[in-house]
Amino acid sequence: MAPMKAGDAFAAMRGRRVAILGGLGFIGSTLALGLAESGAGVLIIDNEAAGSGANPANLRGCERKLELVRGDIRDTAMLSRRLSGCEVIFNLAAESSHLGSMDRPLLDLNVNAGGSLAVLEACRKVAPDAVIVFASTRQVYGRPSYLPVDENHPVRPVDVNGVSKHAAEQFHQLFYSVYGQRTIVLRLTNVFGPRMRIADARQTFLGEWLRRSFLDERFEVWGGRQLRDLTFVEDVAEALALAAQTEKAQGSVLNVGGCEPISLIAIAEHLVQLGKRGGYSVKPFPANRARIDIGDYYSDDATFRRLTGWAPRTSLPEGLQRTLDYFQRHFVDYTGVSAA
Ligand SMILES: NC(=O)c1ccc[n+]([C@@H]2O[C@H](COP(=O)([O-])OP(=O)(O)OC[C@H]3O[C@@H](n4cnc5c(N)ncnc54)[C@H](O)[C@@H]3O)[C@@H](O)[C@H]2O)c1
Repeated sequence: MAPMKAGDAFAAMRGRRVAILGGLGFIGSTLALGLAESGAGVLIIDNEAAGSGANPANLRGCERKLELVRGDIRDTAMLSRRLSGCEVIFNLAAESSHLGSMDRPLLDLNVNAGGSLAVLEACRKVAPDAVIVFASTRQVYGRPSYLPVDENHPVRPVDVNGVSKHAAEQFHQLFYSVYGQRTIVLRLTNVFGPRMRIADARQTFLGEWLRRSFLDERFEVWGGRQLRDLTFVEDVAEALALAAQTEKAQGSVLNVGGCEPISLIAIAEHLVQLGKRGGYSVKPFPANRARIDIGDYYSDDATFRRLTGWAPRTSLPEGLQRTLDYFQRHFVDYTGVSAA
C-alpha cells in the first residue's frame, strides 16, 4: 500500500463523530487537535488524573473546536450517555507510569483493566458498531528474548502496568470475538514530542531530561547503552487514525514502532547538542528502576505498516528539535517555573 500524505489520515475522518478518552493527555490531545482541525466532531472524556500528562495547555486555542467532558472511564453510566452516537472511540485514558504502577498497583489495575472493560461494556450497549482503538504498550513484552520484537514474542510483563494493559488488550480481543465489536489494539513504543509530561520522571526518562536541559542542569542517564525506537507523537496520532480506518486491522494486536534503534546515550547527545544547554552523566540504575527495566527494545511493526501504509515521517533529531521549540515557548505551562 502506498504511504498516505501527511494529514490524509485525519482528513478521512472529517464529519465523523469521534471520542478520545484521555484526550487532555499527551498523545490524546495531539490526536484531538489533528482530528478537530480536519473537521471531525471530537468529544474528549478525561478526568485529569493526578500524575498523568493531562494539561489544559495541551488544547489551548482549540477548545471551541472540541467538546470536553470531565469524567472517569470507570463510570459506565456516564460513558453510556456520552458514547452513544460515536463512530470511533480512541481509548488513551490510562495510568501509564511503570514505577507508579508498582506504588499504586490497584489504581493501575482498576483504571487500565477495569476502565477499559467499562468502555467496552458501554460500547456494547450504546455503540455496538463503533470502532475502538486501544493504546497499549510495548511494556507487555517485558525483557525481550529477541530483537526486533514482533507480535509473536512472549508476553512477560515486568511490572503491574504491563499486566493491567495486557488484561485490557485481552478484553478488547474478547469483545471482538464474542460480540463482534470492532476493536484494534496498538502496542506503542516510547513516544515523545510537544505536550509530553516533563514535570518529572514519572512517565518517561525523556521528560525528565528535557526539563533539566531547559533549567540548564545535568540529567542522569541510567545505564545508557539500552536501545529504543522512539516515535514522534504526530506519527503516533496518525497511526491511531489510520488504524481506525483499516478494517483488516480489526480484532488484531499490532506493534507500532518508530525511528531506527538508538542508544539512550546517543539520544542524550542529540538533546544536549540541539538544546545547547545542560549536560548529562551516565549512572547505574537506581534499584527500584533496575527491577522493572527491560533492557534493549525495538519493534517489528511490519504488519501494521503493511495493513495501513503507515510509516513514521519524523526523524529523531527533527522530532527533538520540534519538541525543544514547543517547550521553549510553553515551559512554564508544564513545569510551573520559567526556563533558565
Ligand atoms: N507516552 C508513551 O510513551 C506511551 C508509550 C506506550 C503506550 N502509551 C499509552 O498511550 C496512552 C496515552 O499515553 P499518554 O502518554 O498520552 O499519557 P497521558 O498521561 O499524557 O494521558 C493519559 C490521559 O488519560 C487520562 N486518564 C487517566 N485515567 C483516567 C480515567 N480513569 N478516566 C478518564 N481519563 C483518565 C489522564 O487524565 C490523561 O489526560 C496510554 O494508554 C499509555 O499507556 C504511551
